[in-house]
Amino acid sequence: MFKIIVLLIIAYLLGSILNGIWIGKLFFHVDITRHGSKNIGATNTFRLLGPVAGSLVMILDIGKGYLATWLPTLFGIHGWYPLVFGVAAILGHTFSIFYHFKGGKAVATSAGMLMAYNLSFFMIAAVTFIASIFITSMVSLGSMLGFIIIVFSACLIHDNALIILALCLTVFIFYLHRNNIHKILNGSENLTDWGLYYWY
Ligand code: G3P
Repeated sequence: MFKIIVLLIIAYLLGSILNGIWIGKLFFHVDITRHGSKNIGATNTFRLLGPVAGSLVMILDIGKGYLATWLPTLFGIHGWYPLVFGVAAILGHTFSIFYHFKGGKAVATSAGMLMAYNLSFFMIAAVTFIASIFITSMVSLGSMLGFIIIVFSACLIHDNALIILALCLTVFIFYLHRNNIHKILNGSENLTDWGLYYWY
């Protein structure tokens, strides 16, 4: 039990490290919570500070979700149980102890958890995410569609743990993207020039 509590705390603390904020402040002297979408994630970092900083934040955010989920397997925790630790990292990212219990939208951290749990599911979500952005030019929409596809994929292979988690996570992610949904509906969502819709 002690081992589980320590691993949960480590996972939460890992998730609480908001990479977008410290990279923005340390290397660019920019507080990304004051500009762009004001989100602390890779998308806003990319938007404000460019592809190198954005990619670095994405890798680190995926990495902390991965690490939090993979670490328990080293201590004999297997099956769907490591997902619980991934969720702790996601909660750290959204309610960070280092940022007044506020945080980001948890897309990359969730992706890291998925990568550690099942690489095929991660690939399915990643392809959906990239294809959606390529078509719609909206990262937020790609993120949400990526979660929906996981729910369907989990249903197809009857992975009950993943079905329940993906459903809960999708609702949570939609809630965290409520401002994006509002903007998508009224046509004012940020567009990336990576997508066809931007050029159309
Ligand atoms: O991962 C967050 C993304 O889905 C949306 O980010 O900055 O456009 O609100 P942003």
